This record gives sequence, C-alpha cells and structure tokens, in this order.
Amino acid sequence: MFEPDKSTYQLNDGNQMPILGFGTYKIAKPDLMNQTIQSAYENGYRMFDTAQYYRNEKMLGDAIRNLSVPRQDVFIIDKVTEMNQGHDLTINSTDFSLQQLGTDYVDLLLVHWPIADKFFETWEAFEELKKQGKARSIGVSNFTRSQLELLKTQADEMPVVNQIETHPYLNQAPLIKFDKKQSIVTQAWSPLGRGAVLDNPMIGKMAVHHGKTPAQIILRWDIQRGISVIPKSQNPERIAQNADLNFELSDDEMSMLDVMNRNQRTGNEPELVYEWGKQYKQFKK
Ligand SMILES: NC(=O)c1ccc[n+]([C@@H]2O[C@H](COP(=O)([O-])OP(=O)(O)OC[C@H]3O[C@@H](n4cnc5c(N)ncnc54)[C@H](OP(=O)(O)O)[C@@H]3O)[C@@H](O)[C@H]2O)c1
Repeated sequence: MFEPDKSTYQLNDGNQMPILGFGTYKIAKPDLMNQTIQSAYENGYRMFDTAQYYRNEKMLGDAIRNLSVPRQDVFIIDKVTEMNQGHDLTINSTDFSLQQLGTDYVDLLLVHWPIADKFFETWEAFEELKKQGKARSIGVSNFTRSQLELLKTQADEMPVVNQIETHPYLNQAPLIKFDKKQSIVTQAWSPLGRGAVLDNPMIGKMAVHHGKTPAQIILRWDIQRGISVIPKSQNPERIAQNADLNFELSDDEMSMLDVMNRNQRTGNEPELVYEWGKQYKQFKK
C-alpha cells in the first residue's frame, strides 16, 4: 500500500525519507511556488527538492511556512552547487541556504555534482555539517559507481542517498544495484525524462490497461524497483496524478519497462561535470 504522506524508506543513518518528493527546478515565481507547494502538500507530498543552483530556496522556504505546518512535517532536500564546493565555501554557502530557506536544518543535503579537485574536501564539510545538525542526512547526486568507490577510501560516513537521472530510457540498473549493495537509496531526478518518455506506445498501453496515465506507470515502476522519485509539475491535476500511485504493475510489465533503456540522457554526463574547470578549458583550445 503506497501512501504519499506516510510511505518512507529507511536510510542507513537511521533517518526515514519519504518515497515521493516534489521537484522545484524552474519553479521561479513566488505565486507559482506557493500554489504548487500548497497543492503538493494537499495531495500528500511531504518532501521538497531544491538546490542552490535553482535560485528558489527563499521562495520554497516562504511557501513551506505558508502551509503553517510543523517543521518536522516536511522533508527538505537542498544541494550544494559546483561553484560553492570546497571546504569553506560548502560550509558558508550552506549557512546562506539555511537563511534563505528560513530553517535551522535541511533534512538531506546533497553534493549536486561531483567535482574532481574539490571531491574530498566538500565531503569533509558535509560530514561536519551533519555533526553540527545543519543537515540531518548527507548524500550525493550524479555520482557514478567509481566516484562512490573513490569517496569510500576517505569518507568517515558514506552518503545515504544518490540522486541520479533515471527514467525508462536511462534505467541505470547497474548503478541502482550498486547503490543498494552499499545501503544507499537511489532517488530519481527527471523520472519522467522531462516528458520525453510519456509518448512511448508500450507505456501508453499499460496506462490504458490500468486506467492510469503514462506518468503514473513510470512512477509506479520506480517505486516497485525500490527507488525514490521527485517528479515536478506546475499543474494541479498532474501534481495530484503523480502522487496517486496505489496500484500494482505485474512482473511482466516491470520487465517490459526494464528493457526500454536507450542510455538516453536529458541532462549532463556526470564524467564531464567531474572535470569541471579542466576539461572544458581543454575543449576551448
Ligand atoms: N540532481 C540533479 O542534478 C537534478 C537535475 C534535474 C532535476 N532535478 C530535480 O528533479 C526534479 C524533477 O525533474 P525535472 O523537473 O527535470 O523533470 P520531470 O519531473 O521528469 O518532468 C517534468 C516535466 O514533465 C511534465 N509533467 C509532470 N507530470 C506530468 C504528468 N503527470 N503528465 C504529463 N506531463 C507531466 C511537467 O510539466 P508541467 O509542469 O506542465 O506539469 C514538466 O514539463 C526537478 O524539478 C529537480 O527538483 C535534479
């Protein structure tokens, strides 16, 4: 039984994280933020995903306060952007993010993208922020298996979440399997492939069969393969739809979705971002 406001995953640090969250990328106007967060909360979403890069932390913080619910009723995810990585910048930029959000802590703080020359010092700062209680849980985003293995050589504690791009055209099966072995919960960003997978005819047929929409089929597939999802919508009907996932896909349907992979990304290739500031300069020569 999936209940958006109650169903959680157990994280390896002892905390619980909602399975379903709400993405806020490109929601950049206060009115729209208020409407979408209100609508999401009413439909059972309790987790809200922002990032320093989105420049909407203050709007999200205000919208959450406008809900007039206790702070512990919501789970806030924030991410430290590439520009703010390194030890001191990570600490200082997180303090600024907390100010913007109007809260003493985030529930989950993520390294937005791995950066080669700031790799270990950024994580050291994350471990300090956790000890100080400014981040209840710490995790990463867009980390590959090799980057997680590298992190393990120096980390005192490992990330509890890896937020990565995954949808039927980029199923990331090996990385999700690896995350699971390491007790890391995988969270899907762009779970709907920013719309690119919604007109797949096979997914369309499954949707008709279940009396659901293609988006619901995809999000249900994610939940059944044991990962967390943070779909974004600014449309009240679709916000409601994306939280209404209490149905079951058969093993055959799960297998059909598993084999749609095309290694097709909508976002950046993590290995290129990792060399940020190095590789790009070489390209310019
Ligand atoms: N860690 C990272 O590097 C990273 C990168 C990208 C994104 N993210 C996070 O992940 C969140 C989700 O990813 P995303 O926003 O890129 O893409 P997404 O959630 O895969 O797709 C959003 C798009 O799909 C449409 N949509 C949503 N629900 C729908 C439905 N039921 N039926 C039809 N269309 C639907 C939305 O349009 P409407 O709004 O008009 O409904 C929007 O155009 C972001 O908002 C952000 O919080 C993280």
